Amino acid sequence: MFTIYGHRGLPSKAPENTLASFKKATSVSDLKWIELDVAITKDEQLVIIHDDYLDRTTDMVGEVSQLNYNEIKHASAGSWFGNEYEAEHLSTLKEIIDLANNTKINLNIELKGVSGPNGSELSESMVTQVSEILKSLDSQIEVLISSFNIYLLKLAESIMPQYQRALIFKASGFGKDWRTLLNFCNSNIVNIEDTKLTQARVKEIKNAGYALNVWTVNNQLRANQLANWGVDGVFTDKADTLIHLQR
Ligand code: G3P
Ligand code: MG
Repeated sequence: MFTIYGHRGLPSKAPENTLASFKKATSVSDLKWIELDVAITKDEQLVIIHDDYLDRTTDMVGEVSQLNYNEIKHASAGSWFGNEYEAEHLSTLKEIIDLANNTKINLNIELKGVSGPNGSELSESMVTQVSEILKSLDSQIEVLISSFNIYLLKLAESIMPQYQRALIFKASGFGKDWRTLLNFCNSNIVNIEDTKLTQARVKEIKNAGYALNVWTVNNQLRANQLANWGVDGVFTDKADTLIHLQR
């Protein structure tokens, strides 16, 4: 099996993490999975955005976890990408659930780490809310919960143990203790950064019995090489051009 994940939707064609991007991804024939980044506002509302700050992907500035939802809900999350996407707002997890129910696309929900003095309370609120919202997802739709943050994965294990968990690693963060970290989260899925990933490392992880997905892979030759090495899936901004490699 080699699975293609639409990383933040189809961000090569529409602004990342917006409903427009996810809709475009669902129109890619045979694409089975989308990935989205869940963050939380100061007043504990879930929004879909990658960065801690609004600056890069909206027409506002400031840190998401330090702002209330009412202050950011009218931000354009698409004008930076193109005028035709000006009406795109920060999408909500509820909107993604509705899209998944309508299209049957599977969801990889990445929980973004929360920083600051009330980080642990916000983390708990985030995981609890994700768990509640997922109750309205059709039962045949698969869910994978992932995070760089082992605290969030541990919370996911206790609050919504029915969903598989993946621990995400930056290339530089993959140390000798990787198995200990995975075991701590009761997870057997490694989502690792592509930079400098070698066949030897792929073998090490696969031979130890873990599933392995790689991010972010936009080059077809590289994706094909990873598939031939036995990698289980790749996250890509170009699901439309890599989907033929899925098997
Ligand atoms: O989960 C794969 C990938 O999304 C992790 O990195 O920074 O794109 O959320 P990032
Ligand atoms: Mg992500």
